[in-house]
Amino acid sequence: MPLFPLYLLFLLAAVSILPHSHQYHPLDPLTPAELTLVSTILTTYYPGTTHNLTFQYIGLEEPNKDALLSWLQKNQIKTPIPPRQASVIARINHKTHQIIVDLSHNKVVYDQVYHGYGYPLLTFEEQIAANALARTHPPFLAAIRRRRLKIEEVVCGSFTVGWYGEKRRNRRLVRVMCYYLDGTVNLYMRPIEAITVTVDLDEMKIIEFRDRLTVAVPKADGTDYRESQQQPPFGPQLMGITVVQPDGPSFTIDGHIVRWGNWDFHLSFDARAGPIISLASIYDTEKHKTRRVLYRGFVSELFVPYMDLTEEWYYRTFFDAGEYGYGLCAVSLQPYRDCPANAVFMDAYIAGQNGMPVRMYNVFCIFERYSGDILWRHTETSVPSEVVTEVRPEVTLVVRMVSTVGNYDYINDWEFKQSGSMKMTVGLTGLLEVRGSNYTHKDQIKEEVYGTLLAENTLGAHHDHFLTYHLDLDVDGEANSFVKSKLQMTRVPDQSSPRKSYWEVVSETAKTESDAKVKLGLESADLLVVNPSKKTRIGNFVGYRLIPGSVVGPLLSDDDYAQIRGAFTMYNLWVTPYNKSEKWAGGLYADQSRGDDNLAAWTSRNREIENKDIVLWYTVGFHHVPYQEDFPVMPTLSSGFELRPSNFFENNPMLKVKPLKVVRSSN
Ligand SMILES: *[C@@H]1O[C@H](CO)[C@@H](O)[C@H](O)[C@H]1NC(C)=O
Ligand SMILES: *[C@@H]1O[C@H](CO)[C@@H](O)[C@H](O)[C@H]1NC(C)=O
Ligand SMILES: *[C@@H]1O[C@H](CO)[C@@H](O)[C@H](O)[C@H]1NC(C)=O
Repeated sequence: MPLFPLYLLFLLAAVSILPHSHQYHPLDPLTPAELTLVSTILTTYYPGTTHNLTFQYIGLEEPNKDALLSWLQKNQIKTPIPPRQASVIARINHKTHQIIVDLSHNKVVYDQVYHGYGYPLLTFEEQIAANALARTHPPFLAAIRRRRLKIEEVVCGSFTVGWYGEKRRNRRLVRVMCYYLDGTVNLYMRPIEAITVTVDLDEMKIIEFRDRLTVAVPKADGTDYRESQQQPPFGPQLMGITVVQPDGPSFTIDGHIVRWGNWDFHLSFDARAGPIISLASIYDTEKHKTRRVLYRGFVSELFVPYMDLTEEWYYRTFFDAGEYGYGLCAVSLQPYRDCPANAVFMDAYIAGQNGMPVRMYNVFCIFERYSGDILWRHTETSVPSEVVTEVRPEVTLVVRMVSTVGNYDYINDWEFKQSGSMKMTVGLTGLLEVRGSNYTHKDQIKEEVYGTLLAENTLGAHHDHFLTYHLDLDVDGEANSFVKSKLQMTRVPDQSSPRKSYWEVVSETAKTESDAKVKLGLESADLLVVNPSKKTRIGNFVGYRLIPGSVVGPLLSDDDYAQIRGAFTMYNLWVTPYNKSEKWAGGLYADQSRGDDNLAAWTSRNREIENKDIVLWYTVGFHHVPYQEDFPVMPTLSSGFELRPSNFFENNPMLKVKPLKVVRSSN
């Protein structure tokens, strides 16, 4: 790649691009000025008069871990800050380019055409254009007329198409599905079934249209979820509750660094991953030092396969992060509703299809959660002439984002505890994907309908949600090992005890990736990441353990194409050696991927992972059988997991945590 043309450099100097000073942390997301710079550099390189250029993704090109760590550990004034770079995935004249732009020198340092399978994230703009195409297509208009529907009440969405073993397919396709408003805002409860509109996104034209048969569009009655549209009888209204912090919050936010209690971490935003927590460290009051726990953690992929095999549904096997962008789909959080009164909000920027920055307001909220729980307690009545009671109420720090990927809303929480635990929770709410049907009563159904009849003419389709987290733990340093401590029933071989059995802990350190693939539920085991060169004073390896939530694994056959692409769900937990380019569990190019660049494929190399810089991949799963209460909007269903210190501290780190200051309510 030739250097960036000089004349433009001057031009850029004139528009005053922010200088790179040390006030920026190397992990900060790209600023609006940097996004503009990326867009300017690349549109100069590939001018619009001769190029169809669209930006499918722009984000921070993460600095090399070595460079970042040495910058952090050494004197930050004297050690040069790692170069600031942008990672770009663009479609240029119908080809996918992977590009790195050096923002310190205003030049393209890498630009390669990708020839493998799969396509980048979809932009909002091309989805909107595809949806608009359907609504002007004469056969589509005829299909709407035939159903006696009003075209002005029809709204459409673009659905990614997956891959079903086709040998050749070199088009970026979506299927456009449409819904009916006419008296409701809950369009997802009013699908217009049996129409297939296939759009080529690069050509931006309809390449296939089918209208197979007609089924009823579910009624609008009872679908609206807005408070203003509800009719009595109403449920009981509860009294107001709030958390009052008269002295202000106990956390500080300095740029993107959040400090609270004994924790500090960097919070970034990425269009694909949403929140990224980096450099999470905990201050050890006994050792008088900050100790590293998590180098980087984020949601790497969300796999949502539906189980409905009808022609208009079988392909719905979505990768919500890699196809739609978990961060791109983030919404503005509502004060007092999405987050409590004591929350602080943060904005973020994404790049539009033209590369220009778009501000997203209130995408994160950060707040201290006090829900009346107990951190630890004891009452002692056996001390003569004294009753001892010690209680510490629990307060945690929550970082929240909500991503609304079409119909579904994912509430994504990272929660930090004074105990040194980190708890990751995802709550599912929003609207189900339902299929319109002629059935109005369960007794009429004599065939496989792939779901539950939720209301008249409304079938809630069976489906799964798998959220795979990338967790690069660095417990007291990079070199860590993964240890499975199995709890094994052991028989007492002789008469040495009146007991016949007990359980013991048998620990195995995983040597290679295949040793570390875990299907939970088959055996009891504690799953630990330890630092094999650091011990507590009394000799235990310092570590953190992963405490899983409910155990959910895939229920598709291994040779099902959807499962080949989603093979990273095959195990609940995987461990890989750190590799900067292995970030996306479903592959960098997830749309129409073929499973050749995913976590399952990477680990087939069976690399060594003992006493190495390792990454944990944990999947939170849900099998979702819809129930009538999920109609017309779904009450939140949550799951998650915890990373908890395990022989990391010398004793209970909350022993000397002082109880909260008492705030008495005024009434
Ligand atoms: C850009 O795309 C349109 C639509 O496919 C096509 O007609 C046009 O020729 C393309 N331009 C270039 C420079 O490739
Ligand atoms: C659904 O009902 C409509 C109206 O009675 C009928 O025309 C259509 O064929 C039915 N569809 C199916 C799949 O049975
Ligand atoms: C990092 O991962 C990529 C993708 O799996 C692979 O091509 C590359 O060889 C890996 N690098 C190293 C140093 O192992």
